[in-house]
Amino acid sequence: MKEKNIKIGLCGFGVVGQGVYSQLSGKKAYLQEQLGANLEVVRIAVRDLNKTRDVSVGSSLLTTDPMAIANDPTIDILCELMGGQGVALEVTLAALRSGKVLVTANKALLCDHGAEIFAAAAEGGGHVLFEASVAGGIPVIKAINEGLIINNFSSIYGILNGTCNYILTRMTNEGLSYQEILSQAKTLGYAEADESLDVDGIDATHKAVILAYLAHGRWVPFENVLVQGVTAVTQDDIAFAKENGYAIKLIAVIDRIQDNGKLYVSVLPTLVSKKYSLGTVDGVFNAISIHGDVVGETVYIGPGAGRNATSSAVIADVVDASKHLIYRCSETRFPFLDPAPRNGAEVELAEPAEIHSRYYVRLLVMDQPGVMAEIASILASHEVSLASVSQKEVNEDAAKASLIITTHMTTEQAIFDAVVDLEALASVEEKPFCMPIGAFK
Ligand code: NAP
Ligand code: HSE
Repeated sequence: MKEKNIKIGLCGFGVVGQGVYSQLSGKKAYLQEQLGANLEVVRIAVRDLNKTRDVSVGSSLLTTDPMAIANDPTIDILCELMGGQGVALEVTLAALRSGKVLVTANKALLCDHGAEIFAAAAEGGGHVLFEASVAGGIPVIKAINEGLIINNFSSIYGILNGTCNYILTRMTNEGLSYQEILSQAKTLGYAEADESLDVDGIDATHKAVILAYLAHGRWVPFENVLVQGVTAVTQDDIAFAKENGYAIKLIAVIDRIQDNGKLYVSVLPTLVSKKYSLGTVDGVFNAISIHGDVVGETVYIGPGAGRNATSSAVIADVVDASKHLIYRCSETRFPFLDPAPRNGAEVELAEPAEIHSRYYVRLLVMDQPGVMAEIASILASHEVSLASVSQKEVNEDAAKASLIITTHMTTEQAIFDAVVDLEALASVEEKPFCMPIGAFK
């Protein structure tokens, strides 16, 4: 029997694209042995043909036209590794409508256009594989779609952005500011081309929306997710965390409210106990804790960003796609690649008044009589009960104090309303910083 040739087009040859190419080339013989087929990268789209790159390829492979790859009928698998929205969406839809397998790492595109992308796949007979879009090298998509197929998920907690975890870890261990560390995260290939996607919590939200879809069958609109990044976290917050047995982590929560089954998704800096697995996951590592009704809790930890971690996930999808192309090429639907969405009915989204947590609030206040009484009175008016208060002089100006408050259980709505009123006080100097105190079990 003649050995099959699987033809691959790479759209994007940056951090991830070059990693995928060099792993496919370096392990060509092994992959051939595994698949009984030859995987061949036949075309690569870039923006700049003259750029110096870490991985060199023959100039005949390169094009500046990714649509030429999407429209090339001889290409079986298109890897979308450009990122962004405009051209990436066009390429994605064209590839799927022409029946190709699309392997994508583009979580932003899936979050914003997931329904349209899956519809294009169904319409054109294409398939979408996206292991690299969430948690870098951790095979969490496979875990949810395959290993945990029989489970309903009550909660998923995740550290889903490697750049933020790297920044928070080094801020904690080395006392550096987040700006100093961010430039290193960019050099290491962890950060997005637009790093505000990382530090503002947007990238982690894209990933949380994808996990929510996989686990609960609903594309939660981005604007329905409560999002805060890590830019407001200071050394005062880190000192509090260290003194009290916590770590600060950017945590994505995908929760079904116990009483009514509504779905809640948020991405927030969170105080996480160091006794809980996610509180000890440092550096560029990601972690996801998944609670299934059959299995209980499973936790996945691994590198969440960077060339090798992401290439590992992209190539897992390329190999899955190849197996199907080789062995089931006559079928129009790959049940394994295109699992039916969970929960036919749309789950309702929870309201802030239905979310319960303890909170941490840091305020910069004028250090003068009556300020504490005003603050306590506002919290009481929203039925927020104080658990602790600590005050520290601000070094350069003893007329100001940094006030840190923790609360007992309250609702997200109550703490938001209280923070809005606190910010309006003349004695409060800047926007208060607030984060949940995670009660992860
Ligand atoms: P990157 O280093 O910026 O590379 C992007 C590549 O796409 C570059 O080769 C660029 O060409 C090419 N490109 C961009 N727009 C193009 C266009 N209109 N036409 C042709 N080529 C175009 O980005 P990356 O870090 O590899 O990330 C790629 C994707 O993977 C993104 O969706 C990202 O979110 C996702 N991802 C990244 C990581 C990570 O750790 N880096 C992890 C998981 C997922 P030039 O080289 O000529 O500029
Ligand atoms: N910028 C992303 C991160 C890449 O830092 O997690 C991986 O998706």
